[in-house]
Amino acid sequence: MSSRERAPERKSSSRGAGKSQNGERGGTAPQVELALTAKPVPGAVSRGDFLETLARLTTSVWVVTANNALGRPLGRTVTSMMSVSAAPPTIMVSIMRDADLAEAIRATQGFSLSMLASSQEEVANAFAGKVSPEERFAHAGSWAAWPSGRPRLLDALAAMDCELSGVVETETHLLFVGTLIDSAHSETDMPLLWGMRDYRRLSIDPYADD
Ligand SMILES: Cc1cc2nc3c(=O)[nH]c(=O)nc-3n(C[C@H](O)[C@H](O)[C@H](O)COP(=O)(O)O)c2cc1C
Repeated sequence: MSSRERAPERKSSSRGAGKSQNGERGGTAPQVELALTAKPVPGAVSRGDFLETLARLTTSVWVVTANNALGRPLGRTVTSMMSVSAAPPTIMVSIMRDADLAEAIRATQGFSLSMLASSQEEVANAFAGKVSPEERFAHAGSWAAWPSGRPRLLDALAAMDCELSGVVETETHLLFVGTLIDSAHSETDMPLLWGMRDYRRLSIDPYADD
């Protein structure tokens, strides 16, 4: 089994999980918070070996965004997004727990994500720390807003707006589980990828007929 054990459920509320496809609010899933407690494991691999191994993972590149309690947009580049389930439409993303973005997601109970297209490396760099948090949105990408008010990157390969449906705490990161209340996708663009510590691009056209 894993090196982590699940602590008892810490908090739940009866807040609905979001809107169904026809726009009606009717989710029954409560917002749940769990804490995972790391146990020292003799013989666990070193951080260096972990990073070297995980460098082989090739993923899409995303910008996760939210407004803070004052309405200011925040965002950071991530590769940790994963699909959880199609019904209800659920995804999860891992954010460093001391990031202002993590606090904003908790405070406003939602977040949005944009999957970057191959032409959006500048956006990835800006939101990975090359541009200050205050200047990122003006510096890179064209930004609009979802009906919720959360940021939406125009020309993203895919984009989602989520209500927060759960939080899992780990030592260093918070895993935010979100229920999609809006989504959009491109029919033609190619993805920006991250693997072996650098940006990568597909060498085939995924839309071409076989
Ligand atoms: C390819 C890549 C993937 C990243 N994935 C994550 C992630 O999944 N979660 C996270 O919290 N930070 C991730 N980061 C780090 C943040 O993007 C970065 O620390 C942050 O934007 C720094 O800016 P700030 O702390 O000033 O906002 C990633 C960075 C890069 C370059």
